[in-house]
Amino acid sequence: MKTNEIRKKFLNFQIKNKHKTIPSSSIVPINDPTTLFVGSGMQPLIPYLFGKEHPCGKRISNSQKSFRSGDIEEIGDNRHTTFFEMLGNWSFGDYFKKEQIQNFFTFLTSKEEGINLDPKRLYVTVFSGSEKYNIPKDSESVDIWKNCFLSAGIITDVQEIISEENGDKVGMEDGKHIFFYNSEKNWWSRCGTPETMPSGELGGPDSEVFYDFGKENTDKNYYHLKPHPNTESGRFLEIGNSVFMEYVKENNSFKKLKNKNVDFGGGLERLAMVAQNKTDIFLIDIFENAIEVLGGINIYKNNLKSCRIILDHLRASIFIISSGVLPSNTDKGYILRRLLRRLIYHLQYTLNNFSILPKLVLSLISEYKNTYKELDGKNIIKIIEEEAKKFLEVIEKGTSKFEDMYNKKRVITAKDAFELFTTFGFPFDVTQDLSEKKKFKIDKNEFLSLMKKHKEISKKGITAKFKSGLSGDEREVVCYHTATHLLHQALKDVLGNNVTQKGSNITKERLRFDFSFDRKLTNEEKMEIEDLVNKKIKNSIKVDFVSLPLDEAKKTKALHNFDDKYPDIVTVYSIGDYSCEFCSGPHVKNTSELGVFKIKKEESISAGIRRIKGILL
Ligand code: ALA
Repeated sequence: MKTNEIRKKFLNFQIKNKHKTIPSSSIVPINDPTTLFVGSGMQPLIPYLFGKEHPCGKRISNSQKSFRSGDIEEIGDNRHTTFFEMLGNWSFGDYFKKEQIQNFFTFLTSKEEGINLDPKRLYVTVFSGSEKYNIPKDSESVDIWKNCFLSAGIITDVQEIISEENGDKVGMEDGKHIFFYNSEKNWWSRCGTPETMPSGELGGPDSEVFYDFGKENTDKNYYHLKPHPNTESGRFLEIGNSVFMEYVKENNSFKKLKNKNVDFGGGLERLAMVAQNKTDIFLIDIFENAIEVLGGINIYKNNLKSCRIILDHLRASIFIISSGVLPSNTDKGYILRRLLRRLIYHLQYTLNNFSILPKLVLSLISEYKNTYKELDGKNIIKIIEEEAKKFLEVIEKGTSKFEDMYNKKRVITAKDAFELFTTFGFPFDVTQDLSEKKKFKIDKNEFLSLMKKHKEISKKGITAKFKSGLSGDEREVVCYHTATHLLHQALKDVLGNNVTQKGSNITKERLRFDFSFDRKLTNEEKMEIEDLVNKKIKNSIKVDFVSLPLDEAKKTKALHNFDDKYPDIVTVYSIGDYSCEFCSGPHVKNTSELGVFKIKKEESISAGIRRIKGILL
C-alpha cells in the first residue's frame, strides 16, 4: 500500500468515525515564538485541548506537515527523518481511551478499513503511574488492549518493564504484548516528562504501539541487551502514540483539564514502512523515484549515509521553502541553510553529481503534487541553486584557508576545524575529508565538545530572545496589527456596517487604514471611535486564532474581502467576541498590550474612500 493511499485511508477511516478532516497547518507556527517549526499535529491545536471550542467540532483529524530539527544530526539511520507527516486524530472532550485504542487497533489490523498488519507483530505500552504526582497506573488501557488482542485471537497479559534500564536487564517474556513503562517512556508533553514540563503546559499518559520486524533485525550493538519494545534496538518501530491529554501542570502538581482529550499521532512514513514491510524508511515508495535519480539502489546502498542525508534534507527543504522560509543566518533560515548545505555537499562531493538536483527536486515533488499544491518546483530549484553558488564559494575559501593552516603547521587540529566552521561555515565533514586525503585524522570528539559549548552559548542567546519576545520594532508593528482590527470593527460600529476595508499599511510608527465612506467624519464620531478602541484595549481581551479550510472559514462571521483570493487554509483572528477577521497575523496575545489609541488624521483619498492614520501612545 502506497504512502499516499495510507494517508487517504486513515483520513477516510476517521471520517467514518465522525471526524472532520482539517488541512495541515503551515510547518511554520503562527504566533508561537517558542518553536521554530511545527513538530507534531497537536501544536496548532493547543487552545482546543485547553477547552476552546473548535469550529469543526469535537472530533477532528488531519495529516500534519512536521519538522523536528533536533533530529538533523541523527539522519543517516534507518528510521529518522527531519520532515515527516503526522497522521492525527483528536477528541476534544468527546471519546476517550476505549474508542481511541479500539479504533487505532482496527486501523492497523483491518484489511478493508486499514493497513492490514499482523496483530502478532504488535506490541503496546502503557503508563505505569507516578506516585510523586499522584497519577494512577493506566490499568484501563491495559484492559482495552487485552480485549483488542483477544478479538484477534491473541491472549496476552501485561508485563512490568517500568524503566528502560530495567527492561534491558530483564527483557520481554514470551507471549506478552502489553508493557508498563514509567513516565520517561509513557508520558507525553511537548516538554518531556512530568518533572521537566514547565507550569502551564499540558500533557498526559500515553499508549504507544510498536511493530516487531523480527529478531533478525536487531542491531548488532544491541546484542548484549535483552529485547523489549520501547528501545532503539532496531527490531521494534514505534508507529503510533495515543496521548490521553487530561492534565495541566500547575505549581509542580497536576490538575485535570476541563476535558479529557485524545491526541493521537502516527508517523505516516513509519506506517508506510510497516505496511510495505521495509526496515529502511528511505526504501518506502515515496523515495523510490528519487533513488532512481540518485543512480539506483546500488548507488544508494554503497553511499548509504550520504544518500539518506540528501533524500531527507532535500524533502525537508522543499517543504520549508514552500512555507516561505529562505536560507539565512538566523532561526528558521539558518536551519534551512544547514539542511541545504549538507545536501549540496553530499551531492557535489560524495556523489559528484550536483547537476541532478532539478530532477531530484521534481521527483520528490511529484509524490506530493496531489496533496500539497503549494510545492513550486521551479522556485525551489532556483533557491537551492543560489544557495549552492554561495556555498561552493565558502568551500573554495575554506579550502584555501585549510591549506594555509596546513602549510604552516603540517596538521589541522579540532580547534582549527572549529574555527573553519564558525568563521567560514566550512562544514566539519569537509575538513575531515580534506584531512583524510592528507593522511591524518581530526579528533571528532574534541570538535564536538567545542561545538557543544558553542551551541550552549547560542542556545542561551535564543532562549533569551524568546523570553523577551519580539524585538522593539517588531513589537510595535504587531501592536498596530491588532489595533487595526479593533479600529476596523469600531468604524463599523460607529459609522455603520457598510464600512469596508479598502487598504491597510503598518509601520512601527503608525497604522494607516483606508475604508469606504462618503463623507468627512465629525469630531464626535472620531472621538467615539477612539473611545471604543480604547475601551477594548482596557478590557484586556484575549486575541486568538484558528486555521481553517477556506470554505469553513467563509461560513464563519469573520470579516474578509470578497474580492481577494485566499489560500486553501486561512487563519482567522478573533479578539474576544468583538472582532473576527481573516488575517495571517501576527497579533498580540491580549489587547492590554496596546497602550492608548489616538486618531492623528482623517482624510479623503479618493471618491468614497477615507483614510485614517492612527498611533498608539
Ligand atoms: N502529540 C503526540 C506525539 O507527537 C501524539 O507523539
